[in-house]
Amino acid sequence: MFYDRPGVAERYGAHRHGGVSSPNFTMEEPALLAELGDVAGLDVLDLGCGDAALGAMLLRQGCTNYMGIDGSQEMVTRAEVTLQDTRGTAAVQNMEELSLPAGSVDLVVSRLALHYLEDLDAVLRACHAALRPGGRLCFSVLHPVITSSDAQPSPGPRGSWTVDDYFFSGARERLWMGDTVTWFHRTVEQYVDGITGAGFNLTALRECAPEPSRFGGDEAELARRRRVPLFLLLSAQAT
Ligand SMILES: C[S@@+](CC[C@H](N)C(=O)[O-])C[C@H]1O[C@@H](n2cnc3c(N)ncnc32)[C@H](O)[C@@H]1O
Repeated sequence: MFYDRPGVAERYGAHRHGGVSSPNFTMEEPALLAELGDVAGLDVLDLGCGDAALGAMLLRQGCTNYMGIDGSQEMVTRAEVTLQDTRGTAAVQNMEELSLPAGSVDLVVSRLALHYLEDLDAVLRACHAALRPGGRLCFSVLHPVITSSDAQPSPGPRGSWTVDDYFFSGARERLWMGDTVTWFHRTVEQYVDGITGAGFNLTALRECAPEPSRFGGDEAELARRRRVPLFLLLSAQAT
């Protein structure tokens, strides 16, 4: 598991919680929170929960239960620290082997984890089975324009992007967080087809444009983040 390799979880945590320098904070999170809306009273399942920072946030907003699962022991250890003294839980589990009682959750959320899966469609079907009728699925992934190419960006803040091999879906290897990671590229259309094919109605597709209020006045970084989309966020409702 990539996140259990030495130093990866630590480097990822520093990047993820890096404030203005973290696009998770300036781009993905505002779109996600707007899309999730009111979570009060909901039973929530988080796939690839990482350190469960989202869980702490949703519990503060009044969700009834939060259960995070992650394939990395290192990440779950961090999640347990985040969730201590709350009613949230975290467990080591491969989401490709997800099996929950049918109709047991109201909201399945996943942030930047589903592009690690080769067989996304099977996981989407398992999510549908786990949701109560009318329950919601909301997930973000690296934007397909980012996962498309195998080109390795040079270190430091990125100033150029390559979109290539877009219609060749499948595995991509990248040097990231100091190690080699495998992501699975699929097109926007394939994400949408996976959702509808699993029995959901698509309710929103967002490209997570940067949120100016999160840049602390750093106009140069805001302008850089306006150049290309980094994240795709999809929301759906179980039929
Ligand atoms: C980019 S991190 C995102 C973590 C967290 N959602 C966040 O927003 O910080 C991706 C997470 O997905 C988890 N992951 C990847 N493949 C997985 C799998 N097959 N089953 C469960 N978790 C997985 C990783 O261990 C990692 O914690």
